[in-house]
Amino acid sequence: MAEKPKLIVTRKLPDAVEAQMAANFDAELNGDDTPLGRSELAAAFGRADVIVPTVSDVIDAEIIGHAGPNLKLLANFGVGVNHIDLDAARAKGIAVTNTPDVLTEDTADLAMALILMAARRLGEGERMLRGGGWTGWAPTQHLGRRVNGAKLGIIGMGRIGAALGRRARGFGMGVHYHNRGPVEAGLAAELAATYWDDLDAMIGAVDILSVNCPLSPETHHLLSAERLALLQPHAFVVNASRGGIIDEAALADALKSGAIAGAGLDVFEGEPAVHASLLGLENVVLLPHLGSATLDGRIDMGMRAMANVEAFLAGETPPDLL
Ligand code: DGY
Repeated sequence: MAEKPKLIVTRKLPDAVEAQMAANFDAELNGDDTPLGRSELAAAFGRADVIVPTVSDVIDAEIIGHAGPNLKLLANFGVGVNHIDLDAARAKGIAVTNTPDVLTEDTADLAMALILMAARRLGEGERMLRGGGWTGWAPTQHLGRRVNGAKLGIIGMGRIGAALGRRARGFGMGVHYHNRGPVEAGLAAELAATYWDDLDAMIGAVDILSVNCPLSPETHHLLSAERLALLQPHAFVVNASRGGIIDEAALADALKSGAIAGAGLDVFEGEPAVHASLLGLENVVLLPHLGSATLDGRIDMGMRAMANVEAFLAGETPPDLL
C-alpha cells in the first residue's frame, strides 16, 4: 500500500477535523497546542508533504528555505495569509491555499459586536458591574451612542465587508465603503451602499469606521495618525481584520485625548501582545482575535483546508489556490 502523505498541522484543531486528517493522511497533530518554535517549524518544513499552518505561525523566506523536496503545499487554516511570504513560497514551488467563505458570517458577526460594544460602552458596563460599582439604574449613567441612523464606513468591501454591511442595514445604519473599485451593482443596491473613491473623504464623513481589508504592504498602517485625525470626535473605529492596518500608538493617542469617541479591536499588530497604552483605556474594547472563533466555523475551516489538500494531491487545482 502506498504511504500516506505526511501532513503536519501546527496547532490543535477541532476533534472532527483532526479525526479526518488522521484517517486520510500520515498526520502529525499538535495535541497540546503548543505553538511551534522557529526551529521546530523549520524541521517540519523539512519533512512534510503538506503543512497546515495558522495565523500564529510566521512563515517567512527563512522558514520556507528549510522546505524539503516533498513539501509542495501550505494549506493555511484561515483566510488571511499575511503571515506567509507568498513570493518566497512561489519561488520555492510551494502552493498556498486558504479557507475563505466559511468564516465570513462569523467574522461579520464579531465586527458588528465590536460596533455595538464600542458605541454602547458594553465592555465598560460589564467591568463596572463585575467590579461592584453598579449602584442601580440612573438616567444619565453610562450613556453610549445610537447606532440606528449612524453612517458606517467600511474599508474593504470583500466578503466580510459585505456581510457586515448586511448586518449594519438590519441595524438601521447607512453603508459607505472604500474599495479598489465599486462593487457590482446588485450588491451596491442591496446595501444601498455609497462608494467613496477617496478614503480620506469617507473617513471624515462617517460615524463608525470598520477595517475589513486584508493586511499587505499597501495597507500596513493605512489608518495612520494623519488619517485617524480626519475622524469626527464622536466617531468609533473597529477592526476585525489585522492589527497592522492601524497605527496602534496613534489610535491610543486619539482615544486618550478624546479626538475620537472609542474603538473596538479584535486584532493587534504584535499579537498576542497588546499595545500597553490601549490596555489602560476605558473607551476601547479589546478582544483576543475571536473573529472566526465558533466551533462550527473552525470545523468548516478545517474541512475546507482538507478539501484543498485532497484536490492538490489528486493533481487538481485546489479550490482556494492563491
Ligand atoms: C483568518 O482566518 O484570517 C482569521 O483571522 C484567523 O486566522
